[in-house]
Amino acid sequence: MAILLPGGAGYIGSHTAIELLKSGKEIIIVDNFSNSKPEVLNKIKQITGKEFKFYELDYLDKEKLEKVFKENKIDAVLNFAGYKAVGESVQKPIEYYTNNISGCLVLLDVMRKYGCKKFIFSSSATVYGDPETIPLTEECKTGGTTNPYGTTKLFIEQILKDIYTSDNTWDICILRYFNPVGAHESGLIGEEPQGIPNNLMPYIVRVASGQLKELSVFGNDYDTHDGTGVRDYIHVVDLAKGHVLALDKLENEQKGLYIYNLGTGTGYSVLDMVKAFENATGKKVPYKIAPRRAGDIATCYAEPKKAKEELGWVAQKTLEDMCKDSWNYIEKSQA
Ligand code: WQD
Repeated sequence: MAILLPGGAGYIGSHTAIELLKSGKEIIIVDNFSNSKPEVLNKIKQITGKEFKFYELDYLDKEKLEKVFKENKIDAVLNFAGYKAVGESVQKPIEYYTNNISGCLVLLDVMRKYGCKKFIFSSSATVYGDPETIPLTEECKTGGTTNPYGTTKLFIEQILKDIYTSDNTWDICILRYFNPVGAHESGLIGEEPQGIPNNLMPYIVRVASGQLKELSVFGNDYDTHDGTGVRDYIHVVDLAKGHVLALDKLENEQKGLYIYNLGTGTGYSVLDMVKAFENATGKKVPYKIAPRRAGDIATCYAEPKKAKEELGWVAQKTLEDMCKDSWNYIEKSQA
């Protein structure tokens, strides 16, 4: 029985592939390399010393996807295939809705046809919109997303709830990621944003390496301890381990539809991140204060208690690990 990972060559998919292989699972990756590189597959093999099957395909291509299900016995699917750039989603809503939502529907339809009904979905804290209360529990109101990317996550969550209502033999786990950062400790795989990064940590590492001149801190007049935006940064390897535990739950425990926040429960500001990065790496990160970025909120961090109680999952890595590992990956990949 294999675990299928659409988008498994991407940032979070590749780190999860490693943790699944390490826990003894058989995996199959499918990817069209729209935002990832083929070399990642060899790096996963190098890190784990394990082999796995790979199919190059777009998950919107139902025929090709069906072939994967015909040729293999697939027990569960962890869906990492999806576009994820917030700004780009505003420019390209049709592409985002088609790829993220139609792609996911094709996948779910094929799964149903082949009697595979265990599904783990990569959702995002963005589904909470502008939070009314902090920390965010899974019961907090969702909605009010401010960009098509976030709306695709919100809509797919609703689709999954409707599927479960129609047929409760599905086992579904929705994981709401907070702000994933860091890289595998080997420095062989990590985050590879195309063009100028939008997210904070990839921007910081490129300033530290001299590729970009300075960081623009988007707003210092928020109602936070230093006026800059506060987020719950989580190491990607901790996030990956959360998927292994979620899969264990779907395979071994009670059936159902579950939702978990995957965050550390601690919020750090933009300036906290700059300081932590400088301390962890000894590199300077020049910055200037810039206007607020449209659509940003002041503060967002998780209440991760439910994942601890029900999955036995707790984020282990420190902010220092996140900074060091992000930097290590950039240094290694540029060497
Ligand atoms: C973090 C903080 C910025 C860049 C987004 C998505 C979310 C998830 C993760 C994944 C904010 C500030 C940033 C910069 C800055 N998506 N910042 N200068 O906006 O919390 O979440 O990414 O794929 O769904 O919405 O993350 O890293 O962009 O920003 O000052 O150059 O850093 O204003 O306070 P965000 P981020």
